[in-house]
Amino acid sequence: MSFKPADKIQDLQYFGEYGGVNPSISDSSTYTFLAAKSMMDTFEGNLEGCYLYSRHSSPTNLYLGQALAAMEGTENANVTASGMGAITPTLMQICSNGDHIVSSRTIYGGTYAFLKNFAPKFGITTSFADITSLEKIEAAIQKNTKVLYCESVSNPLLEIADIKALSDLSNKYNLKLVVDNTFSPLQISPAKLGADVVIHSLTKFINGSSDTVGGVICGTNEFIDNLRNVNDGASMLLGPVMDSLRSSSVLKNMRTLHIRMKKHSENAMYLAKKFENDGLKIIYPGLKNHPQHELFTKIYNKEFGYGGMLSFDAGNLEKADELMELMQERNLGYLAVSLGFYKTLFNAPGTATSSEIPDDEKEKMGLTDGLIRFSIGLDNDIERTYKEMKTCMKEVGIL
Ligand SMILES: Cc1ncc(COP(=O)(O)O)c(C=O)c1O
Repeated sequence: MSFKPADKIQDLQYFGEYGGVNPSISDSSTYTFLAAKSMMDTFEGNLEGCYLYSRHSSPTNLYLGQALAAMEGTENANVTASGMGAITPTLMQICSNGDHIVSSRTIYGGTYAFLKNFAPKFGITTSFADITSLEKIEAAIQKNTKVLYCESVSNPLLEIADIKALSDLSNKYNLKLVVDNTFSPLQISPAKLGADVVIHSLTKFINGSSDTVGGVICGTNEFIDNLRNVNDGASMLLGPVMDSLRSSSVLKNMRTLHIRMKKHSENAMYLAKKFENDGLKIIYPGLKNHPQHELFTKIYNKEFGYGGMLSFDAGNLEKADELMELMQERNLGYLAVSLGFYKTLFNAPGTATSSEIPDDEKEKMGLTDGLIRFSIGLDNDIERTYKEMKTCMKEVGIL
């Protein structure tokens, strides 16, 4: 692919109000108008360059939104207070009572819980299917289906969605393809492969410092305008707005995203290969034995590698817990949910981030209790990390 997302971010030139090298932070919830008529026009959404109220939009959020739209190659983007604050308004905007969603069955537990337990309260139902089987996805589509939903790299099993093929399918049935790209910023560009809407939890790699939650919805001008509509826009009316101070700090962190993603990938690849050689069954898209290794290789923006996430099965929950506690004690990372931090994070998703998924579904998808999901950090000396991790694995009897 010739799309260069990091260049798109680099090319954005912003000046602060007094010539600062960072854009000024808009520290206001509301905005004045010199003419009353302009306020009315702004309410109707047809006055460019005027701000009304920060739940609708603010200069700082628009800067960050512009950077994320540039990164994903979409016309526009709406920044939100969390990843869930991006996912839920998107689906509520597209779907009405009586509509249906086809979703990958391997998705973040919170998204799964929303689709399974919450959306039905509004008459929106979901069928979950194996995203790696186009036949199964197609078979799940009904007359009232409106959305095809997936993650580019799934959580926590790291399955890769064939976005191009899913886009063809969604065009055939007139659906909207919504892709959560949280695990693979810069590496995969879903909109360039045909996704209609691209979502991120900014909480993870994009912000990268685990100091805030945040999210974004990237799409066409029309869709973003619809979300912000004062009369029926889900973002405007449900209100998950990001604060400007946070927004400005996320934007600054985005400027180093390309360097971080390369290092996360380099370190994860190193560990994946080493532990595979040691006999562990590692799930990592960069390994040749990963079922979608070739697909990833075909669609990724090569310079950013295969990502910072890897998983493996420690055998059972007790072993997984023992290993994670020991690794934390030896300062190899934190036993914590989330991902994309400079330090390695690990958890056993079967009982944590995916605990919302019922046991029989987990079994079907291969999500065992002993599975440990790693978000590999930016360690400078990854060989040293490997040796110490290996010692821990030997001590708990995994190696
Ligand atoms: C893939 C994915 N999407 C969405 C979310 C939700 O994001 P947030 O926690 O920022 O609301 C998460 C969070 O863990 C996630 O892993």
